[in-house]
Amino acid sequence: MRKPFVAGNWKMHGSKASIEGLMAGLNAQASALKNVDVAVCPPAIYMDYVKTLLNSPKIALGAQNMAQEATQGAFTGETSAAMLQDFGCRYVILGHSERRALFGETDEEIAAKVSVALQMGLTPILCVGETLEQRESGVTEKVIAAQLDAVIALTGVDAFTQIVIAYEPVWAIGTGKTASPAQAQAVHAFIRDKLARLNRSVAEKVIIQYGGSVKPDNAAELFAQADIDGGLIGGASLNADDFMAICQAASA
Ligand code: 13P
Repeated sequence: MRKPFVAGNWKMHGSKASIEGLMAGLNAQASALKNVDVAVCPPAIYMDYVKTLLNSPKIALGAQNMAQEATQGAFTGETSAAMLQDFGCRYVILGHSERRALFGETDEEIAAKVSVALQMGLTPILCVGETLEQRESGVTEKVIAAQLDAVIALTGVDAFTQIVIAYEPVWAIGTGKTASPAQAQAVHAFIRDKLARLNRSVAEKVIIQYGGSVKPDNAAELFAQADIDGGLIGGASLNADDFMAICQAASA
């Protein structure tokens, strides 16, 4: 049995004031969390602030990105895995479609970051997903296979027991257009089957989150699918009640 995992990707949102309110809401409801792993991924500059405000062991910390260099060096503006570790960060989102599209991160760079995160004891949340154009031209599986293959080539398939995969169709992110449960399940099954061809027991263990316009009113139906093991939540993770309702849907 895989334990569902829900993570909130706050993206570049929040202020000290808004985060104080959000954390108060999360703290108040965290004790009710059962049978679900939960993490919040604030902007790096707020990591320590969130850690200070967080008063529940049921919510872990994650980062939204990290440098390819593991520890330190002349890399202006970057944050290393060692620095994230230093602040008690457990997870790091890597290869989010916004990093791929807006910051030009390639499959190979993302694979290198996944490898560094693993070496440094962080759990990568590896994002994969196709654009609308790719879906409409029938290359969804090909695109996702290539995104996964770049990582497998570097880390090997066995490392996927320590890697969380987030399937996030780019056309569903921030658009209010969720993949239907059947559409999402089909891709999740494809991902698990691809890993199973290399190592069946790893494939059975790997956590595959769905991300893209997950809300309290559609979460339960998505999470009920056989190969959907929780979610990576953007907009709805900025509201404590909505995020906690989604976490509860994953644990049900
Ligand atoms: P939304 O939930 O806002 O669509 O964002 C999804 C996402 O990109 C999470 O990483």
